Amino acid sequence: MEYTFKSKSKEATLKLGQSLGHVLKGGDILCLAGDLGAGKTALAQGIAAGLGIAADVTSPTFTLIQEYTVPSQDSLLRLVHMDLYRLQHPEEVEVIGVEDAFQTDTICLIEWPEIAEDYLPEDRLDIQIQGSGEDIRVFSFHYPKESWQSRLEQVFSEQMKD
Ligand SMILES: Nc1ncnc2c1ncn2[C@@H]1O[C@H](COP(=O)(O)OP(=O)(O)O)[C@@H](O)[C@H]1O
Ligand SMILES: [Mg+2]
Repeated sequence: MEYTFKSKSKEATLKLGQSLGHVLKGGDILCLAGDLGAGKTALAQGIAAGLGIAADVTSPTFTLIQEYTVPSQDSLLRLVHMDLYRLQHPEEVEVIGVEDAFQTDTICLIEWPEIAEDYLPEDRLDIQIQGSGEDIRVFSFHYPKESWQSRLEQVFSEQMKD
């Protein structure tokens, strides 16, 4: 299945991320692909805000993996934000423990996911961002229908409200 969404500003991308954050649950894996400066981290910042995370979410380009606790009443949920830009070989995906984040108590966001292709489960949300610099960004969502369709409908109906 596929959805597309156009964003004309960083603020619009943050808002899209926030709406996404409202529908996420433990076990979700989101792959954020696109050029340098496309808005992967901006979307991740919106998602974190939508989950109620107050911490400043920055690009984990050097740390590779950043972890945040999601404030939720019922269970302890964590957000793991990765940036695989600096990896050179697919085997490094195992070394840095990418798969350790594929857990039911974890929401996992992966920037530059391409190198981890062989390790990613099929049940995931792939978000491809086209454009950078002054361009309008086009977000394309690819996903298995059963796990994402109704939640994405909720995200896009929330976006249409404003
Ligand atoms: N529509 C848009 N969505 C997101 N970012 C945008 C948009 N238009 C311009 N920008 C700018 O593009 C840059 C995106 O940076 P960032 O989110 O760090 O990208 P990435 O993580 O993909 O490398 C920011 O400087 C932001 O202000
Ligand atoms: Mg980034």
